[in-house]
Amino acid sequence: MLDTVAKLQGVSSIMQPQPIDRAGGQTSEAFLKLEGITRRIEQQTILDDVSLSVEEGQFISLLGPSGCGKTTLLRVASGLAPCDSGTVRLAGMDITGVPAHKRNMGVVFQNYALFPHLSVAENVAFGLKAQRRDRAAIPSIVAECLAMVQLAGFGDRRISSLSGGQQQRVAVARALAVRPKLVLLDEPFSALDRQLREVMQIELRRLLRSVNMTVIFVTHDQDEALVMSDRIAVMNRGRIEDYSDPASIYSRPKSLFAFDFVGLSTRMAARVVAADGDMLTLDTKYGSVRAKGRFYPGTSVIVGVRPESIGPAGDKSDAAGEDRNRLKLWLTDIVFQGSKRHLHFAAQESDRLVAEVNSAAINMFEPDSELSVSWRVQDTLVFPT
Ligand SMILES: Nc1ncnc2c1ncn2[C@@H]1O[C@H](COP(=O)(O)OP(=O)(O)OP(=O)(O)O)[C@@H](O)[C@H]1O
Ligand SMILES: [Mg+2]
Repeated sequence: MLDTVAKLQGVSSIMQPQPIDRAGGQTSEAFLKLEGITRRIEQQTILDDVSLSVEEGQFISLLGPSGCGKTTLLRVASGLAPCDSGTVRLAGMDITGVPAHKRNMGVVFQNYALFPHLSVAENVAFGLKAQRRDRAAIPSIVAECLAMVQLAGFGDRRISSLSGGQQQRVAVARALAVRPKLVLLDEPFSALDRQLREVMQIELRRLLRSVNMTVIFVTHDQDEALVMSDRIAVMNRGRIEDYSDPASIYSRPKSLFAFDFVGLSTRMAARVVAADGDMLTLDTKYGSVRAKGRFYPGTSVIVGVRPESIGPAGDKSDAAGEDRNRLKLWLTDIVFQGSKRHLHFAAQESDRLVAEVNSAAINMFEPDSELSVSWRVQDTLVFPT
């Protein structure tokens, strides 16, 4: 596979404009740069001043709930939809007005958009023929791309004879066959079962890394985004609320929405009762906690803690002498999660109280009983309401 990839890179007819030199010989410009993109449809603002910079070779995920504008942003980036304001730059060139077919981006659409009258192999070969590749080389490239998506031997099948997940993988193979410098993937694994999905995630990542392809990948699956991405853009209502590496998005999200969207966590309504420098004392319905942050006393906030940060008070991590918060909570449910269990505690109104523990430690806990829990002050997040 990699041999062919290397050969393909040499003969690629992909547009590769020279970056603008604004830094005295250094090419510091992002590979893809969306600036101030706004799109309105019938008085509704679908994209609201969205800016996004992607470095060459990076894998970026757009993560957000249904209807937040992910597909629309991809369509604007690929030239399939116009924007009311803003610019799209690729390798330093303004391509905002360049039509989609001249942008040389690989795109996998949410609805696959395969050619139903062509066979699987003809679909995958389509872009290669359009690029006037050496005809003798095409069958082996097609075979390699189909093998990559676990569809070796499917070349002669008709599209209508394939399952949804198989069609989706043909769409991925077709987009990658021409080795575009930039590939836009709109939920490319949504129709796959979990096992195949994980295999494809690893395969795709390895391939994309090896050819230094730049990728924007749309998903509403936070685990998929955390596994695959160099950076994640969390989208909400046509805006990007957070754009950072997976670890930062997970442990230091910039907004309550980003915190809530990336995993089930503890969140409590609270009121700031004291602020000493950047150390806050907060009142919750379950007791007082402390956290770092800058809010005025009297402010209503939400306190957030990732479930794996919370453990039973008095256990090994609690004894480490760190600055910790402690609460007495009422344990209501223990939920099986494979190697982990989630402990759910009685919570008031829109609060949620959940801790994650190892299944091995499960005998320590009894539902319908009080449990003292603790977590580090530094793992306590505070968001404005
Ligand atoms: N052509 C259109 N006409 C009217 N509304 C549209 C059009 N295209 C998109 N929208 C609206 O814009 C919003 C964003 O749509 P978009 O398809 O970008 O969402 P998405 O984040 O991709 O969602 P999903 O996860 O469900 O695919 C939605 O409210 C949608 O109804
Ligand atoms: Mg979509």
